[in-house]
Amino acid sequence: NRVVLAYSGGLDTSVILKWLQQTYNCEVVTFTADLGQGEELEPARRKAEAAGVKPEHIFIDDLREEFVKDYVFPMMRANALYEGLYLLGTSIARPLIAKRQIEIAKMLNADAVSHGATGKGNDQVRFELGYYALAPDIKVIAPWREWDLTSRTKLIEFAEQHQIPVSKDKRGEAPFSTDANMLHTSSEGKVLEDPWDEVPDYVYSRTVNPEHAPNEPETITIDFEGGDGVAINGVGMSPATLLETLNEMGRRHGIGRLDLVENRFVGMKSRGMYETPGGTIYHLAHRGIEQLTLDRGAAHLKDELAPRYAELIYNGFWFSPEREMLQAAIDHSQSKVTGTVRLKLYKGNVSVTGRKSPFSLYSEKVVTFEDDQGAYDQRDAAGFIKLQALRLRLLGRRDRA
Ligand code: ARG
Ligand code: SIN
Repeated sequence: NRVVLAYSGGLDTSVILKWLQQTYNCEVVTFTADLGQGEELEPARRKAEAAGVKPEHIFIDDLREEFVKDYVFPMMRANALYEGLYLLGTSIARPLIAKRQIEIAKMLNADAVSHGATGKGNDQVRFELGYYALAPDIKVIAPWREWDLTSRTKLIEFAEQHQIPVSKDKRGEAPFSTDANMLHTSSEGKVLEDPWDEVPDYVYSRTVNPEHAPNEPETITIDFEGGDGVAINGVGMSPATLLETLNEMGRRHGIGRLDLVENRFVGMKSRGMYETPGGTIYHLAHRGIEQLTLDRGAAHLKDELAPRYAELIYNGFWFSPEREMLQAAIDHSQSKVTGTVRLKLYKGNVSVTGRKSPFSLYSEKVVTFEDDQGAYDQRDAAGFIKLQALRLRLLGRRDRA
């Protein structure tokens, strides 16, 4: 028996690795995804080797381009926000990790997969719905729901008994829990648990404090083609490079910080802090280009579908027919979402200052306050309003006379 573990190389998953070997007397395969979390991943290989994992059973895969192209961009086409604010940075990464983990499990004939998410959160649901959708008969081991390492102290004791290196800052209580990838960094727990207490400065890791951001605004352009970003300031780049570039710009200007209390799928509320620098810029830019290129009917339908779509991703239903149906509708709407958006970045804010498109539906000729030379007949509006008013007038006569 063989288990494929989603392994970050951090303390928790290192303990899980050892615990799996002991408890299930199994061969553990480690899988570490490079999603642009900005960490050295080679230490994960060394730690796995030190724990006795065979070199050919250590997988460290660069999934950055796939992550942005096939997960982040499709989600951004929907303008998805959970509970109106959260850009879903953790939620959207889980299905990709699950998918690759299952591929490895199938390749090596493993009968089980394992992850380091707790029994209280969303991530366990997202991982496992992914596993079961892609490998209906896979066995899932979620150590946090099984073991008796119920406190940080016990976890560290276990680590020390098994020669798992514990860094100094982990020896005390870890100040908070984080999850990072190219789209965002999230922080939850510990110093953030009282939703009245302001997030301390040291929790932020990838944006400067907007109060200390440059006094000069920065103006940039993003080109879109068929609903996806393809260039910044006229320079074409791959999806991951584009997001990386926006992250750097967002970091400098302190863009994309969010302090949020949200509803987890399991039913509890949690308080978190998110930093989504590039994603925040991209999200607004995408709306900017849709403003010109989407018809009102399509745009408003998208706005109705977006919260549903966001909830599916938040709840872990990426690999579901309803998500795929919505995706098909959203993707269909994007064929002419092409053009250029100009944005200004300034002290924590991003605003659209211009947009243009070869497929623009905006007609200056029609909308102008000056002489439109017959492009629009204002007399048409009288009948339009009169029929819209008909039932209001009937009601008015009855109820307000
Ligand atoms: N609450 C967010 C979500 O459910 C982030 C969870 C990230 N996990 C963490 N250990 N900080 O998508
Ligand atoms: C966890 O439980 O691993 C993090 C929080 C979450 O999944 O919502």
